[in-house]
Amino acid sequence: MPKADPVKIIKSLSSALSGAQRPWRRMRLKLPTPAALGLLLALALLALAHLPPLPDRSPHLLPASSPPSPWWEAAATLSGERSCSKGPPTPPAHPWQDQPPSWGRRRQQRAMGDAPPWLSADDLQKMQLLTHGRVVSKTRIPAHGQVLRVGLRAVGDTEGDALPAGPEGDCQNGRCGLIKRPGDLYEVLAFHLDRVLGLNRSLPAVARRFTSHLLPYSYTNGSPRPIVWWAPDLQHLEDANNDQNSCALGWLQYQEMLQPHGLVPVAGDAPCSSIPRTEWSYLALFDFLLQVHDRLDRYCCGFQPDPSEPCVEEMLHEKCRNPAELVLVHILVRQSAPSRLVFIDNAGRPQHPEEKLNFRLLQGIDSFPEVAVAVLQSGRLQSLLLESLHVDRELWESQGGAEGLRPLLQTIDRRARILLQYIQEQNLTVFGDLPH
Ligand SMILES: *[C@@H]1O[C@H](CO)[C@@H](O)[C@H](O)[C@H]1NC(C)=O
Ligand SMILES: *[C@@H]1O[C@H](CO)[C@@H](O)[C@H](O)[C@H]1NC(C)=O
Repeated sequence: MPKADPVKIIKSLSSALSGAQRPWRRMRLKLPTPAALGLLLALALLALAHLPPLPDRSPHLLPASSPPSPWWEAAATLSGERSCSKGPPTPPAHPWQDQPPSWGRRRQQRAMGDAPPWLSADDLQKMQLLTHGRVVSKTRIPAHGQVLRVGLRAVGDTEGDALPAGPEGDCQNGRCGLIKRPGDLYEVLAFHLDRVLGLNRSLPAVARRFTSHLLPYSYTNGSPRPIVWWAPDLQHLEDANNDQNSCALGWLQYQEMLQPHGLVPVAGDAPCSSIPRTEWSYLALFDFLLQVHDRLDRYCCGFQPDPSEPCVEEMLHEKCRNPAELVLVHILVRQSAPSRLVFIDNAGRPQHPEEKLNFRLLQGIDSFPEVAVAVLQSGRLQSLLLESLHVDRELWESQGGAEGLRPLLQTIDRRARILLQYIQEQNLTVFGDLPH
């Protein structure tokens, strides 16, 4: 008779139970009946009573199911090509090698079946709205043909139903999302990376297959798309040519702001000068891992771009010769929090080659957030990301589960090791939660 593996049983039980307790996932799971649940619980307790405690490990992984879809395929190829090159450098020994202290406490909550501790209650609520909210209105965004803003109504949201119909009211009340292209799914990973690293600067995003008849056919043809929570109070400059910024900032001004004693007020521009230096450290770290060039280096000055790159085709790269002409874009804050950056459009470049990593994104940054660096150093970045992504069932299943996601996570992890090496070689420091 084959002997059942009790550890496995407990893991799958706890997986089923935690799934059942996570209300926003409810629609996706076929729930066991209460009687079956009770039986499972009893079995689990029985098994637990006869076993040593579970080792602390990351997620209960599902087997790979559907074939992976194209948005990360390039990354997979990349890692395939690279798999025979020498292994990643050993992480340097740093004083902040230990896990951030606050996480020990939070691990207990996880044992009770909560979502990972780095996703806040507010995150989960917004993710639930994005995942299950009924589409009640749609608005095209002028000059952004590829995205659609939709009003959403959460299940049982009676207050929302009492609101006057119409997208403006919905969006002002935080009940809107921006549906992007299927190819932008990487943005969902970026959201999870942001939370795993404790940055908390990007907006909640999930993958979703839409069926609403309000949407154009291309949105309901079965491919999952990313939908990102719409922040009602992003500040935009009045200037129609520069409405993707909350404040206008040139590269040289930016570098000046980063100087150690350079609390240089940026002339005539209130919003940017209210952004503390630490915000730029968050941004640089995030953008380096994802290789988002758009914000800090839309001209591709930090690497040799292919001729087919937009920055070459749009004749931006030529401007690198004259730094005074370079500007930052997508530098945004919210009216409710003018000294915190908000990261939007984070899809980044999973396929960006490792030998061309854009180090210019790190230029001028001399200190990085301690918690984020500790996560990168822990060697657990991939497993934490898997645990986090597992919460997004649509993304998880459409990408072929842990196996399907692994090449992408390996790419990020290699970039993380390169960043750690850079921090060490440049003698850069870290700062804690309360920087001065
Ligand atoms: C995360 O950011 C939001 C605003 O974007 C803020 O309301 C919330 O308190 C932050 N959470 C943490 C844990 O810092
Ligand atoms: C880092 O510090 C070491 C030892 O103090 C020094 O030799 C090295 O030149 C420094 N590197 C940089 C880039 O400043």
